[in-house]
Amino acid sequence: MSDKKIVFSGVQPTGNLHLGNYLGALKNFVSLQKKMECIYCVVDLHAITTFQNPKILKSNILETTAGFIASGLDHENSIIFNQSSVSGHAELAWILNCVSRVGWLNRMTQFKDKAGTDKEKASVGLYIYPNLMAADILLYKATHVPVGADQKQHIELSRDIAQKFNNDFQVENFFPLPEPLIPKKISRIMSLRDGTKKMSKSEESEYSRINLKDDADEIVKKIKKAKTDSEPIPSNEVELNKRPEALNLITIYSDLTNTPVGEVLKQMSGKDFTHLKKNLSDALVEKICPIGKEIKKMIKDRIFLEKILKKGSEKANLKAEENLKKIRDIVGLI
Ligand code: TRP
Repeated sequence: MSDKKIVFSGVQPTGNLHLGNYLGALKNFVSLQKKMECIYCVVDLHAITTFQNPKILKSNILETTAGFIASGLDHENSIIFNQSSVSGHAELAWILNCVSRVGWLNRMTQFKDKAGTDKEKASVGLYIYPNLMAADILLYKATHVPVGADQKQHIELSRDIAQKFNNDFQVENFFPLPEPLIPKKISRIMSLRDGTKKMSKSEESEYSRINLKDDADEIVKKIKKAKTDSEPIPSNEVELNKRPEALNLITIYSDLTNTPVGEVLKQMSGKDFTHLKKNLSDALVEKICPIGKEIKKMIKDRIFLEKILKKGSEKANLKAEENLKKIRDIVGLI
């Protein structure tokens, strides 16, 4: 087996990328580009496991692509494309559906959460979604997969599928066992209205999140309104960890300015939240507004975005086909 390191990750196309997507995923994707070969995919086939309005889906695919590039992903050196344009994802997913076990899928906690109380009514696609995710990764023999902690179980499943494929067909080490890259200091970016809930596009209140497309006024307003508690900023992390809203705002500030949390506490301990909020708004306006402006500019130029995806798909397809040829042969397909 070659010891080449290949990074693969996927982001579902949603119209409104927010600060949680940026700090939790995209910022990490950008820094990996310097170290390894990277493939970043807008996973539109994953999106349709729950119903999507076709017109909105199309524009969301392009907007997510714009978000990738505005955040600093380099479409010249990394591969940026949308999943459905490389048919190998669907083909390998089918083969892996036949390797993966019903018992394994039944243990996936995200399906249980997403399907809700009436599992009989969930799409079959939603149920086998983790097999498609394994196909995404293994199609390129990716070795490293940057994801949030909520995807760890899916990466473990991908490893199990890779291992079983290698065993069943007696092709030792054909598929590398992918490693999740979960940032050690997992910064979970939480809702600005409730420090115990993840920042999410599905929370009703716009005040719960900072969207990458927010302008400076919106950012300042949202941070002003962000929930806090009534104590001054604590001096140490033990105290901070007991206060979800304070922890969230300090974490965001620390991540944005690349300053360790301990250092931020040193600077701010004993001060009140107005001080933190002023600094935080400034940092957000400085980092996020330029990204938002880029996104807004790019989504007006559909042709430009489509060109980037086309070029990315061509590059991805070459790699995919090379691996698929071997996979078909191993499985016994002619
Ligand atoms: N399931 C991931 C999510 O919802 C997205 C995804 C699809 C992905 N395929 C992937 C992530 C492959 C990493 C690797 O966030």
